[in-house]
Amino acid sequence: MGGTNPYIKYPHIERPKKKFKVTFLPQNKVVEVDPENLPYGETGLPGSILDIALKNNIAIEHACGGVAACSTCHVFVKSGRKSCNEAEDYELDYVEAAPGNTVESRLSCQCVPNGEEDLVVETPIWNRNLAKEGGD
Ligand code: FES
Repeated sequence: MGGTNPYIKYPHIERPKKKFKVTFLPQNKVVEVDPENLPYGETGLPGSILDIALKNNIAIEHACGGVAACSTCHVFVKSGRKSCNEAEDYELDYVEAAPGNTVESRLSCQCVPNGEEDLVVETPIWNRNLAKEGGD
């Protein structure tokens, strides 16, 4: 189930109004997201990349349960970043602590696409041994 951090005041997040696709790397698995079915109620903010991934059996680590209190769900949003909510300071604190972070880095539990673009999301190579690639 999704959760929120009671110590964080979450901003308003724009919800998707049309279908979009997310390509997860390195699995190269493409999933179509229909806003009619969101949120999935998995983990992280409703409609987040983590929520989408887990619903589609893409394993991304999420040690804190998707409440912006770790950096294990770190991903690179390779394209489609402009369609995602802006990272808040509380997210950036953990992104900056994530190994190998770049301008493409987001916490997948806090990154919510609005559906205006398709996305390509990659799990960092150093997290792949932890990820159950292919899902289960
Ligand atoms: S799962 Fe901990 S910050 Fe995303």
